[in-house]
Amino acid sequence: MVLSLDRLTKTYANKKAVDNLSIEMRPGVYGLVGGNGAGKTTLMRMISAILEPTSGEVLLDGKNVADMGADYRDMLGYLPQDFGYYPHYTAKDYLHYIAVLKGIPRREAVSKSKHLLDEVGLSDVANKKIRTFSGGMKQRLGIAQAILNDPQILILDEPTAGLDPKERVRFRNLISSFASNRIVLLSTHIVTDVEAIADRVLVMKNGRIVSQGSIRDLLEEVEGHVWEIAVEPSETDKWEAETTVANLRREDNRTILRIISEDPPSDSAVSVPATLEDLYLYHFPTERS
Ligand SMILES: Nc1ncnc2c1ncn2[C@@H]1O[C@H](COP(=O)(O)OP(=O)(O)OP(=O)(O)O)[C@@H](O)[C@H]1O
Ligand SMILES: [Mg+2]
Repeated sequence: MVLSLDRLTKTYANKKAVDNLSIEMRPGVYGLVGGNGAGKTTLMRMISAILEPTSGEVLLDGKNVADMGADYRDMLGYLPQDFGYYPHYTAKDYLHYIAVLKGIPRREAVSKSKHLLDEVGLSDVANKKIRTFSGGMKQRLGIAQAILNDPQILILDEPTAGLDPKERVRFRNLISSFASNRIVLLSTHIVTDVEAIADRVLVMKNGRIVSQGSIRDLLEEVEGHVWEIAVEPSETDKWEAETTVANLRREDNRTILRIISEDPPSDSAVSVPATLEDLYLYHFPTERS
């Protein structure tokens, strides 16, 4: 199974939200990272065949997914970033309803829903109305509906937004066990999620993939650009204003700054090993994940 994006472009007014983007995805877990407005949601909506590209195509094994219609939808699971809820439904009724929309036979829908509610930790509240749910609970229900039809291609737009650390671990385990022989694409701002689940990372900026590879490959890019320097505590503001400071810690009466920079920020700077957090700041210096 190969999902190919071929010169995919989406233009709004005169803004290119996705810009001539070509990649090939095979089974595995892909982490899509990028700052606000990078084009992640626009890209995922085109891959999910909800949004028509301005130009270019999404192809599954060489066939344009727009022409595949229901055959493609049957293979696809999608969690939108702005996942809409049905507040008056119970979690169980909601999943049954989605199952009907996805054409899943009743008997299968009932057993699948039960199993999935258990997997996402919502069995206890299966008969509670969604309007009583916390943000994290709604998100977990959203993940359950996305995998209800056992999709070969799973697109999750910010699936871990609103999850607490424990829920995040549960989500990672769920995806890891689900992912074999499937294509899973998930967008996230949370660096540790990518580290824990993704085989490959796609870094998106201004509608393009600016970097891609295994986490190891990407870390290599940043290697040699992460530095530590010791400064007077009173100087930290100046360094923060002028450079990308990934971290700072006090040591005796000095402050140790971790700085992302192509060149050594000072003569006394010491090169240190890069982390994924550094990678994120390297590509998105003005954002904190
Ligand atoms: N319906 C729309 N009409 C006009 N412009 C849009 C529309 N949807 C998105 N855009 C613009 O396209 C660009 C990409 O937006 P998109 O939502 O895809 O980014 P994103 O990477 O998902 O951001 P976020 O991390 O905030 O979710 C932005 O500049 C956005 O303002
Ligand atoms: Mg988005």
